[in-house]
Amino acid sequence: MIRITDLRKLYAGRERQTLAVDGVSLDVKAGEFVSVVGPSGCGKSTLMMMVAGLEPVSSGSIEVAGAAVRGPVTDVGIVFQRDALLEWRSVLDNILLQIDVRRLRRREYEARARELLARVGLAGFEDAHPRELSGGMRQRVSLCRALIHDPSLLLMDEPFGALDALTREQMNLDLQKIWIEHKRTMLFITHSIWEAVFLADTVIVMSPRPGRIAERITVDLPRPRRLAVRETPEFGVYSARIRAAFQSFGMLVED
Ligand SMILES: Nc1ncnc2c1ncn2[C@@H]1O[C@H](COP(=O)(O)OP(=O)(O)O)[C@@H](O)[C@H]1O
Ligand SMILES: [Mg+2]
Repeated sequence: MIRITDLRKLYAGRERQTLAVDGVSLDVKAGEFVSVVGPSGCGKSTLMMMVAGLEPVSSGSIEVAGAAVRGPVTDVGIVFQRDALLEWRSVLDNILLQIDVRRLRRREYEARARELLARVGLAGFEDAHPRELSGGMRQRVSLCRALIHDPSLLLMDEPFGALDALTREQMNLDLQKIWIEHKRTMLFITHSIWEAVFLADTVIVMSPRPGRIAERITVDLPRPRRLAVRETPEFGVYSARIRAAFQSFGMLVED
């Protein structure tokens, strides 16, 4: 579904040049859930923006569903850490934004929007405005918006990073459920080691800038996974491998 070959991204500014991503090659199968973890500033968001076709690559190539990415990919849903909800639009209208922008028939998608809202526990909030919602609810709306046109690929950039711990756990459970039902290809960026392992088939650990792939870990735990899976020895082994990678970068060093 995604084929990334020898990808490199150099931000060439007037003041400074930043090599954000270097030599990244990665294949993601259709329906695979891939988590990407890595230190802050290592190029995770840059990588995602390039996959979405929203940021040009410096060299190397990206294919999505067999087609070279040369501009914005349409068959994709994106969720950012800071939700991009429009305050003056109702919840329903926020979800239907892409439909309006794409000039698709709103009537056909309205029922789907209501269904999605119900699935994330927000039935009855169709007419609410974003300011009336908690952070977790806003991210649920963002997820519905990313799913409304039924994209084959979902890109999520630290979507739960700003949420409190309990809400975050609930969002993990809900996202897992939705992913199991739909089995869309997922590229999920996170800072959280447990979150990366909990959700993924494959965890990619990126090195500090320039971001390269330092480690690729296959997570072989049956689904649906319960939160308590985090207390099992198997889960501990996966987390330890990721921590060890961070320690090899000189991070998370204990004495
Ligand atoms: N639009 C941009 N222009 C110049 N430099 C950028 C731009 N976006 C990101 N960078 C730089 O690229 C590096 C990687 O950033 P980013 O992809 O946001 O990392 P991450 O998401 O892993 O924290 C950082 O050093 C950042 O300052
Ligand atoms: Mg980022």
